Amino acid sequence: MKFFVLGAGRWGTALALHLRRKGHQPLLYDLNEEVVDKINRGYHPYEEGMTSEGLRATTDLSEGEAYEHLLCALPVQAVRTVLKELPLKGKTFISASKGLELKTLKRVSQIVKELEPQCKVFALSGPSFAKEVWRGLPTALVLAYEDRDKATELQEALNAPQFRVYLNPDLAGVELGGALKNVIAIAVGISDLGYGYNARSALITRGIHEMARIGTALGGRYETFLGLSGAGDLILTATSDLSRNRTFGLLLGKGLSPREALKRINQTVEGVKTAEALYEIIKGRGLYAPVCEGVYRVLKGEPIGKVVEEILQSPPGEEFGSPPPLR
Ligand SMILES: NC(=O)c1ccc[n+]([C@@H]2O[C@H](COP(=O)([O-])OP(=O)(O)OC[C@H]3O[C@@H](n4cnc5c(N)ncnc54)[C@H](O)[C@@H]3O)[C@@H](O)[C@H]2O)c1
Repeated sequence: MKFFVLGAGRWGTALALHLRRKGHQPLLYDLNEEVVDKINRGYHPYEEGMTSEGLRATTDLSEGEAYEHLLCALPVQAVRTVLKELPLKGKTFISASKGLELKTLKRVSQIVKELEPQCKVFALSGPSFAKEVWRGLPTALVLAYEDRDKATELQEALNAPQFRVYLNPDLAGVELGGALKNVIAIAVGISDLGYGYNARSALITRGIHEMARIGTALGGRYETFLGLSGAGDLILTATSDLSRNRTFGLLLGKGLSPREALKRINQTVEGVKTAEALYEIIKGRGLYAPVCEGVYRVLKGEPIGKVVEEILQSPPGEEFGSPPPLR
């Protein structure tokens, strides 16, 4: 199959490498000329030692017109701009980006549908660090779909022993899990700098509840948040030093401002913009989401100690019961 991969960053390149190893012919697209040039010379400039083993990349978006399958690994805030320049008619679109669009508060599949309602949309998500996929280490993902037959074809095209692809019809739930877990992982990063392992475990567990509560209110299925694209991805993102969202939280915990922390990481940290979009959703719908709301408040400059204290003072209620009344 021919795939046009949007975004030749870490994830786009790792996915393209996987496709290449499976015998497909991916072409990577990125606006960064240096990235494209280096990939065409055999290595990736973002990660030391990351080779691009025979991959081809371009800065010419119009080359995508000849491809039936678009695989998107762009930062979410860039998706609409890029897709406005690329006709989507007759194409299959697989989103591998994780987050929500600011202002519209949309998931990537919703942006695509808005631009081209006939486009067949899928989401590929789950616990997957680019570095490990690039190294060929075992990874399990979920392909969410609206068209089961097409999904089976894509599953066959993507699946490999070290890259297991499960199917899930819950497109909203899979996309929301991938977006929400980044915000919870920022909270875990903040907590890890001084609040201990008990707090980390509590945050992850309550974070899964919170993801499910928000996600089901937005149309996802409860069980999806317990699967690979929900709890699975959260566990990876919240516990590994390879995670930028967790690292971002750690830097905030050390006293850096959000701007300083982003500058230090110098990579896409999707949880930051998603926390902003999410806050609008939480407020607009009156949802109980103390962790996501706490992350937003810290991003807006409130002292970490004050936010943590308020969360700890709030009445816990039943573990699986209705949430406490809104403040
Ligand atoms: N890195 C991972 O391990 C990983 C894993 C799963 C999902 N993701 C998701 O994939 C997406 C991309 O993450 P990444 O880690 O590859 O980011 P990255 O920062 O490594 O790369 C993003 C790339 O997108 C390009 N880009 C940005 N705006 C563009 C535009 N308007 N037109 C063309 N190219 C543009 C940048 O030049 C850059 O090369 C995010 O949504 C992330 O959540 C990442």
